[in-house]
Amino acid sequence: MFIVLLACLITSNKLRTLVLIITVKQGVNISSVGECSMRSKQPIHTTLSAEAMSILERYEQEMGAKNVVLEHALLGMDKLRFKEKIDTQSMSRAIKRVRTGIFGFDELVEGGIPEGFIVAVTGTPGTGKTTFSMQFLLEGMMNHEKCIFFSFEEKVEQLIKQSIRYGWNIGEYLQKGYLEIFGFTMLSTEEIIEIIETFKPKRIVFDSLNIYTDITEIRKSSQWRNIVKVIKDKKITCLAITEKKYGLDVKEYDDFDFMADGILFFDKKLMHELDVQKDYLIEVQKMRLTKINEIPYQFIFSDNGIEIKSPAGLKVTFEKHFVSSR
Ligand SMILES: Nc1ncnc2c1ncn2[C@@H]1O[C@H](COP(=O)(O)OP(=O)(O)OP(=O)(O)O)[C@@H](O)[C@H]1O
Ligand SMILES: [Mg+2]
Repeated sequence: MFIVLLACLITSNKLRTLVLIITVKQGVNISSVGECSMRSKQPIHTTLSAEAMSILERYEQEMGAKNVVLEHALLGMDKLRFKEKIDTQSMSRAIKRVRTGIFGFDELVEGGIPEGFIVAVTGTPGTGKTTFSMQFLLEGMMNHEKCIFFSFEEKVEQLIKQSIRYGWNIGEYLQKGYLEIFGFTMLSTEEIIEIIETFKPKRIVFDSLNIYTDITEIRKSSQWRNIVKVIKDKKITCLAITEKKYGLDVKEYDDFDFMADGILFFDKKLMHELDVQKDYLIEVQKMRLTKINEIPYQFIFSDNGIEIKSPAGLKVTFEKHFVSSR
């Protein structure tokens, strides 16, 4: 009986494909070749092309014996198939959600942002994007998660001052090593990646991406993709602030909106003709793996930070519809 095997051999620095044409004598169970060393081993007899043989001999020098190389290749093949199966199964399991700690928000996204997501926090100027994002980090710090705030436009002092207004004890978390703030940063991509790999945060904020890179080209930016890879590999949940020159009434999206796992749109406007003061609004426009209602919600800056109120335009007073996430 002839069996043709395509074996992929992976070395530390190169991927090489080796086609082994193995003539297995009838009666020999090929699966026994791949069994672990604790079990009995069975001999096989192979006929290889000259090219395959020279590759086999090269690996033999690394690994010690031809049958060790072959065994390694077969186990590797099996492992690849097995891994795919596990990935599929784990995808159907419950999604781990990261609470933002923002009063009334988590209920809008099935309890929190899926872990490892990169979410666009976007909208018009002065609408609470930075406050929301810092509050998201605060929730992490309160749960002993390490957090990083990369600000490309504000100084550390200003960010801390803003936090103090809401009674957030950012200084304590900085001292205890739960928070790193890089204010007015000019860090390179390599430095950002190194910081992430060294500090090992669970949550990151970028404020704002428009300053770090050209947002219209961001999907093609290899620099940004390198950062995304690290964030995704390490399952870090990330808020990336971007800027919009138009409000909720205009349906126009930038490159990053398509790339992001979620979009939180911030705006402020006069809700009724006779209003003298604008209302702050947040709308969850996109959240992958999550059921959302895409309704703008009013929010306020309370003494403790941002609090989501009723859906905009609806005359509803919230009767504990939302549960505090703190
Ligand atoms: N109690 C408050 N404390 C601080 N800021 C408040 C308060 N109430 C309303 N605001 C408004 O919130 C805005 C600041 O919020 P924040 O810095 O989070 O907004 P932003 O969307 O990040 O702004 P920018 O686009 O300038 O970066 C200010 O424009 C401020 O007027
Ligand atoms: Mg801001």
